Amino acid sequence: MKVAIIGTGNMASGLAHTLAGAKHEVIIGSRDPAKAAALAEKVGQGAQGGGIAAAAKLAEVVILAIPFGAAADAIKDAGDLAGKVLVDISNPISADYKTLVIGHTTSAAEEIQALAPEAIVVKAFNTIFAQLLPTEARQGKTLQVFVASDDEAAKGQVSGLAQSVGFEAVNAGSLSNSRFIEPIGEMNIHFGYFLGKGPVVAPAWVQV
Ligand SMILES: NC(=O)c1ccc[n+]([C@@H]2O[C@H](COP(=O)([O-])OP(=O)(O)OC[C@H]3O[C@@H](n4cnc5c(N)ncnc54)[C@H](OP(=O)(O)O)[C@@H]3O)[C@@H](O)[C@H]2O)c1
Repeated sequence: MKVAIIGTGNMASGLAHTLAGAKHEVIIGSRDPAKAAALAEKVGQGAQGGGIAAAAKLAEVVILAIPFGAAADAIKDAGDLAGKVLVDISNPISADYKTLVIGHTTSAAEEIQALAPEAIVVKAFNTIFAQLLPTEARQGKTLQVFVASDDEAAKGQVSGLAQSVGFEAVNAGSLSNSRFIEPIGEMNIHFGYFLGKGPVVAPAWVQV
């Protein structure tokens, strides 16, 4: 699949490496195209890097690997997103990581959908720490990625991406369920950083 990754930070780098390793066509986009090119060079395996609009234009799926607060800028920079699957991986957290800055009646994913009404927004990966994106870091454990969207086909595409890099994709229902998935991400941050477990934990929904 042709996947654009917007950003060059922890999640962007982890996703770029793991997706390129699974033979996806990775195009990294950054507000600093030189940073995207440098990351693409590091990733290798045919990854390309450049500006945000150029990356988005080439891809079927565009992953926003940036802070929620940067989404409006990045969406503006991306240009025409009509019909593209736009993946929101964000946890809309405060500067001290300790709380969410939006919720209850909306979510980061729904706000992003409002900013990009022509795109098809899918929530995914927000409960997976960057440290667990490399397959080998998971030490044989299958972690769950909660996938929410109002579009079943787009949900299927993003679930397929997650499965292709060794995750179990869990159908988490409509995009508005991001109101509940984002607090799970925040709780995972508390377990990882404030309750001593380290950034190597992930939530799972267990069916008995
Ligand atoms: N880290 C994790 O373990 C983790 C886990 C789950 C979800 N998430 C979510 O994933 C997202 C990225 O997190 P991260 O840890 O990868 O962050 P990060 O390492 O700080 O990287 C953030 C990236 O966003 C870019 N950026 C910032 N402002 C921007 C703007 N206005 N326009 C375009 N790009 C902008 C930065 O570009 P510059 O380099 O140019 O500043 C950088 O490449 C966040 O929404 C976070 O909540 C993170």
